[in-house]
Amino acid sequence: MKLTILGGGGFRVPLVYGALLTDRAEGRVTEVVLHDLDAGRLSAVVRVLAEQAAQVPGAPSVSATTDLDEALRGADFVFSAIRVGGLEGRANDERVALAEGVLGQETVGAGGIAYGLRTVPVAVDIARRVARLAPDAWVINFTNPAGLVTEAMSRHLGDRVIGICDSPVGLGRRIARVLGGNPKEAWIDYVGLNHLGWVRGLHIAGRDELPRLLADPDLLGSFEEGKLFGVDWLQSLGAIPNEYLHYYYFNREAVRAYQQAEKTRGAFLRDQQAHFYETVTGPGARALDVWDRTRAEREATYMSENRETAGAGERDADDLSGGYEKVALALMRAIARDERTTLILNVRNRGTLSALDGDAVIEVPCLVDANGAHPVAVAPLPDHATGLVCAVKAVEREVLAAAESGSRATAVKAFALHPLVDSVNVARRLVEGYTEVHPGLAYLK
Ligand code: G6P
Ligand code: MN
Repeated sequence: MKLTILGGGGFRVPLVYGALLTDRAEGRVTEVVLHDLDAGRLSAVVRVLAEQAAQVPGAPSVSATTDLDEALRGADFVFSAIRVGGLEGRANDERVALAEGVLGQETVGAGGIAYGLRTVPVAVDIARRVARLAPDAWVINFTNPAGLVTEAMSRHLGDRVIGICDSPVGLGRRIARVLGGNPKEAWIDYVGLNHLGWVRGLHIAGRDELPRLLADPDLLGSFEEGKLFGVDWLQSLGAIPNEYLHYYYFNREAVRAYQQAEKTRGAFLRDQQAHFYETVTGPGARALDVWDRTRAEREATYMSENRETAGAGERDADDLSGGYEKVALALMRAIARDERTTLILNVRNRGTLSALDGDAVIEVPCLVDANGAHPVAVAPLPDHATGLVCAVKAVEREVLAAAESGSRATAVKAFALHPLVDSVNVARRLVEGYTEVHPGLAYLK
């Protein structure tokens, strides 16, 4: 089984490889091909993987290439985890938005739109090549903004592209844990878009235990989302939102915190990662140790500005390993070996949410088997959530239209229609600002 990782020089590749190393079963991935535009980053990651594999008999072979078509040929699975414009691009997404007083997060608000506008054309090119060179491959999309990018690719790959994110899994795990249940045995009633979903129920042994959580302020305040959103607001909502909804429900505070921060998240990661890639290839470096220390620091500081505005304190130790690599591995196993399972994934809606059309990519629990991921039926969202989901999906559609037509006016429309962008003039200035700093947006005319 051959797995091709696009963005193969990326920092989180060792997480995926580490997960593969735990898989001893028949039909596992035996060959990993890393593709990246940057040969230096590829060789850094290859070093980390070599140290990971050192004591593991039968570890998947690893090769690296900067030739995309060569990487894709013969792939059974393609993981796409690219970052168009790099972390410098992410930092610029934040800076330009914050200067206009709006959010520049990589997936939410203006930043997500800018990142989407430069990523979609690249993702579409990849999808077309996969359709031509590896038509039987399954594509697992990690690339953010994951829902939008998955939808762009699905127009060329249909249901053979599946988007993943670890946020809903982490959320379900935390809720199950505070309720004293085994996360593996819980049924999580979750739906929405990527980074825009809500847990409306959590069933353990056939009983919905979420009402018990919502009724207990101590329990409710004891885990990440309780601390972020506050007990009162969760009780008012009657649901537990994905952590990224903090950017909506506490938008002013989040914008202010990011404006005042010494460095935005993107700028922090840009500097941290530059240091990592420099150090890890140095003479005598213990690559795996350097990587692991960098990873721990990255995880400990995740969403720290949001947590600070909420007075949420440090992250729980249990939350520090995201687990997206586990979702990816479970997904591949289910497809490759028909190991039927349920995972929360980004797939086409079909009829799941009646307010959206069938091709809209949503985030929803899916039954996964050798035939792919099938969304399960869920209860409708309340109106306030449907409103947000529809508004954000409409923005995503404008981003897809702008990427296809190259129309600057459509790009302005995408920004202007976003619920977190509060003026058409701001939207116009954002397009000005972003096209000035991003060469990847030169196609907008
Ligand atoms: C979460 C999100 C991902 C994101 C990751 C890392 O897991 O679901 O979409 O890529 O965090 O965030 P960071 O700020 O460290 O890049
Ligand atoms: Mn995510």
